Amino acid sequence: MTDDSGKAGHSLWGGRFSAKPADLMRRINASIDVDRRLAGEDLAGSRAHAAMLAEQGIIPKADEQAIQAGLDHIAGEIATGVFPFREELEDIHMNVEARLTELIGPPAGRLHTARSRNDQVALDFRMWVRAACQRSADQIRDLQRALVRRAEEHADALMPGFTHLQPAQPVTFGHHLMAYVEMFARDASRFDDARARMNESPLGAAALAGTSFPIDRHAVAAALGFDRPTANSLDSVSSRDFALEALSAGAICATHLSRLAEEIVIWMTPAFGFITLSDAFTTGSSIMPQKRNPDAAELIRAKVGKILGSLVNLTVVMKGLPLAYGKDMQEDKAGTFEAFDALELSLAAMTGMIDDLAANRSAMSAAAGAGFSTATDLADWLVRRLGLPFREAHHVTGRAVARAEALGCDLAALPLAELQALDDRIAADIYDVLSPAASAASRMSHGGTAPAQVRLQIARWKEALA
Ligand code: ARG
Repeated sequence: MTDDSGKAGHSLWGGRFSAKPADLMRRINASIDVDRRLAGEDLAGSRAHAAMLAEQGIIPKADEQAIQAGLDHIAGEIATGVFPFREELEDIHMNVEARLTELIGPPAGRLHTARSRNDQVALDFRMWVRAACQRSADQIRDLQRALVRRAEEHADALMPGFTHLQPAQPVTFGHHLMAYVEMFARDASRFDDARARMNESPLGAAALAGTSFPIDRHAVAAALGFDRPTANSLDSVSSRDFALEALSAGAICATHLSRLAEEIVIWMTPAFGFITLSDAFTTGSSIMPQKRNPDAAELIRAKVGKILGSLVNLTVVMKGLPLAYGKDMQEDKAGTFEAFDALELSLAAMTGMIDDLAANRSAMSAAAGAGFSTATDLADWLVRRLGLPFREAHHVTGRAVARAEALGCDLAALPLAELQALDDRIAADIYDVLSPAASAASRMSHGGTAPAQVRLQIARWKEALA
C-alpha cells in the first residue's frame, strides 16, 4: 500500500523500501485471515503496554489516553463487525496499529515503543492458548458431571466387560462410564498443568534482545493475569512449546473421546442394542428408511485426526528452527485454532450424547452372562473352597466350559453331576458364584466393579466436581 507519508512500500515498515511487494509475496505473507481471531488479545496487550509506558514516563500521559480511547474505539468496531481488516497490512498487529493511526494520528506512533511484533504475537497467541486450555478443562469437567450422573443411575446395571472385544467378566455400566471419568480427569489436569506452565508474559522481550527503555515487565505481566514475566528474551519470542503442550493434551483428550465414541457406536448397533440415542443425536438414511445412525459419535471418533494432525504440524514447523523468531512460526496458529474448535465441539457433542442416551438394561444384563463370563468366578471358587492352585483351577474350569459348550448351555445351567465329574468335591453352593450379578457384586477390591465400590467412586467424584 502507498500511504500519505509518500513511502512506496509498507506504511509501517516501508521506510527502506522503494517498491511494493509482489502480489504473491503479499499473499504468502499475510496472516490476517487467521490471526484476526487474536484481536481481543492484541488489544488487551496493547492497553497494558501503553499504560505501562505512560506509568514509566516513556510516553506522555496524554498520548496514552489518546491511545486507550482509540483502542476502545477499535474494540467497538471489531465487536460490531465494521473493523476494516486489510490483507496488505499483513496481520492483526499491523491492522490494529494502522487503524489506530487513522483514528488518533501521531500519538499512535508511540504505542510500538519498546515492543516488537515478535513479542506481541508471542503474547497474543499465549493468551489465546491459555484461555483455550481453560475452556477445554471446564468442558471436560461438564462431561465428567454428565458421566457421573449416568453412572449413578446405572451403578448396578450389569453388562459384559470385554477384553479383545470378547466377553471377559461381567461389569456394571456405571463402572464402565466411571472409567472415562478417570481418563477425562487426567485430561483436564493436563490442561491445568499446561496452563500453569505457560502463564508467563513474553511482552517486553521486544524483537529478541530486550529493550533499552526502562519498561516494567512485571507490571504488564500482572495486568494481563500472568504469574510473572518470562526470564529470557530469546526464549520468549522463539518458544511455542506452550502450544505444543496444549495440543498434546488436546490430542490425548481427543483419543479418549474417540474411544468412548467408538463404544457408543458399538453399543448402539442392533446386534448389541445396549443403548439408544434419541432423534436429537442421530440421523436417518436417505435410502434406508429403518436407519438411525450415530453420526455425532462417528464424527467425534474422526476429529482426533485433525487434532493430532495439528500437533504433528506444529512440531514439524518448530523442529530445527534456529533462535530467535522465524516467519515459519506464523504457521503456528491456523492448526491450533482448528484443533481447539474441533475439540470444543467434540466435548460439547459428547456431553450431549451422554445426557441423551438411554441404557437398555435388560439387553446389557442378558449379554453379561453370555460367553461363559463367570468362568473366572468358578475357578476362584475352586481355589477358595477346595484349595486348588489357581493354575489347576483354571484347567478344571476350562473343561467345565468345554462341557457347557458341548451341551449348549451356560455355566450356571451345567448340571451338578457334570461339574462333579471334573472334581467330586464340588458342591451345590458353587452356583452362588456363577450368576453375573454375584460375579460383579463379589469384586469388592478397591476400584473393582462391585456396585458398592462403584458407588464409593461416584460419591468421591460428585464431591470433587461439585
Ligand atoms: N504475523 C506474525 C506471526 O504470526 C507476527 C510476527 C511477525 N514478526 C516479524 N518480524 N515479521 O508470527
